[in-house]
Amino acid sequence: MASSALISDTEPWKELKAHVEDIKKTHLRDLLSDAHRSQSMIVEFDDVLLDYSRQNATLATIDKLFKLAEAANLKQKINRMFAGEHINSTEDRSVLHVALRAPRGTVIQSYGKNVVPDVWKVLDKIQEFSERIRSGSWVGATGKALKDVVAVGIGGSFLGPLFVHTALQTEPEAIQSARGRQLRFLANVDPIDVARNITGLNPETTLVVVVSKTFTTAETMLNARTLREWISAALGPSAVAKHMIAVSTNLTLVEKFGIDPNNAFAFWDWVGGRYSVCSAVGVLPLSLQYGFPIIEKFLKGASSIDQHFYSAPFEKNIPVLLGLLSIWNVSFLGYPARAILPYSQALEKFAPHIQQVSMESNGKGVSIDGVPLPFEAGEIDFGEPGTNGQHSFYQLIHQGRIIPCDFIGVVKSQQPIYLKGEVVSNHDELMSNFFAQPDALAYGKVRFYSGTTIDASAVIQTKEQLQKENVAEHLIPHKTFSGNRPSLSLLLPSLNAYNIGQLLAIYEHRIAVQGFVWGINSFDQWGVELGKSLATQVRKQLHASRTKGEPVQGFNFSTTTLLTRYLE
Ligand code: F6P
Repeated sequence: MASSALISDTEPWKELKAHVEDIKKTHLRDLLSDAHRSQSMIVEFDDVLLDYSRQNATLATIDKLFKLAEAANLKQKINRMFAGEHINSTEDRSVLHVALRAPRGTVIQSYGKNVVPDVWKVLDKIQEFSERIRSGSWVGATGKALKDVVAVGIGGSFLGPLFVHTALQTEPEAIQSARGRQLRFLANVDPIDVARNITGLNPETTLVVVVSKTFTTAETMLNARTLREWISAALGPSAVAKHMIAVSTNLTLVEKFGIDPNNAFAFWDWVGGRYSVCSAVGVLPLSLQYGFPIIEKFLKGASSIDQHFYSAPFEKNIPVLLGLLSIWNVSFLGYPARAILPYSQALEKFAPHIQQVSMESNGKGVSIDGVPLPFEAGEIDFGEPGTNGQHSFYQLIHQGRIIPCDFIGVVKSQQPIYLKGEVVSNHDELMSNFFAQPDALAYGKVRFYSGTTIDASAVIQTKEQLQKENVAEHLIPHKTFSGNRPSLSLLLPSLNAYNIGQLLAIYEHRIAVQGFVWGINSFDQWGVELGKSLATQVRKQLHASRTKGEPVQGFNFSTTTLLTRYLE
């Protein structure tokens, strides 16, 4: 395919469009009775198991998706990413988050320079600095050890680190290592978030890490100034040097802000904000909390998936399969949303993180060459840990709209409980739901099933069962389920730092695969700029009205009315 052509003009795309009619005639109830198909749709790498047999797809569908990948030059695009080519063409940048977790000694080039030594220089600095803070050899202005950290940042400078922190908070080795320490995240410019973050903290024992790639993001800079004031007011202006550090690509602005550049941790323009959790953005605050050795394991987990993504053939490549299946669901079956359903409370911040990675990356309306897309790219991601979600929005997924679901389960709980007298352990109870829900969605519950094969686990209502349950005729439509609703299951061996790194990288690469095949630029985010510049206009108006009493002007009727009411 020529680089400027749209993927939707290719033969494989058209073939998949036509193939939808074949798939519409199938039902997962029948597809799941084909053992060969089911076996072929289970893939394993490094103890991570993916089962995609509950997708509305046959083996022919998968073949057609591989042809689509070929037409999109997917392999070449992956190679170009790892080779540091400027695939983020609208910003003329490499996309090298894989270099952030590459083992020492690896060669990955950007602008003709091997970036891995620079990565390790910063990692070594983080290790040394975090050990000084954690051991108490670096103390605050009044001589006290700094045991609490507030990381100030938003978007990619917040969501990834929060996800990893939340996932590690209950991990036994991490708990041990974090004893006596606190890590908090101040993201929203809402003063309520400031209040929540500083409540209960003593400036004398607090270290503030300002995390911002650009060091210009309005919310982060205002929150940073607010915390600088909080420290100065309590300990005097000179205390800022001991209590504030920074992570940024813009070290000039860091210094201008008043943070000693020696206490700044760099990263590079080839790291996208939403892909930055493996840079100092995540590694510094997480190392302060858990110690560098644990965070190094997280990097190793991500790196193992990077290698797999780079080298595994597509039919065994977990991120590639996931990406292609998402394209099948969105662009061909017409399912615009995806539910991310981890059966682990430790992963409660995973969906919010993936929302940004996915929706900021693939929420685009034009191809990488600027041609308007004749199809919708991107999907609506949302999610909540199971079983909580089951008691919230699953009703819609079972009987309302069709939403492909990602079920993410863990074999070994971080915090197992075995209650005497219970039939199963608490984790088994949780996982019973993880195994049951995909079948409930796939098989449904029908009034009468006349198919030839009924799997033992099918929740099919036979005529006899209905009669036995004595279900009133008028309730039958309410109590039946059409089934045939797609999901996939991802089973991790446990949820230690390494596995958390694996999970992160699987999703990062899956999203890149989607963007590569759709032919968009997944690594820019121009769509967030307009709102930011309009907020600047409003900010100016608020300032002029409050300081000089100037009337609201230059806005439409609606905004003028709202602003006037607000100012009154
Ligand atoms: O919301 C847009 C965005 O640019 C994100 O991509 C980014 O992660 C976030 O703002 C924060 O940016 P920065 O790290 O530069 O403060």
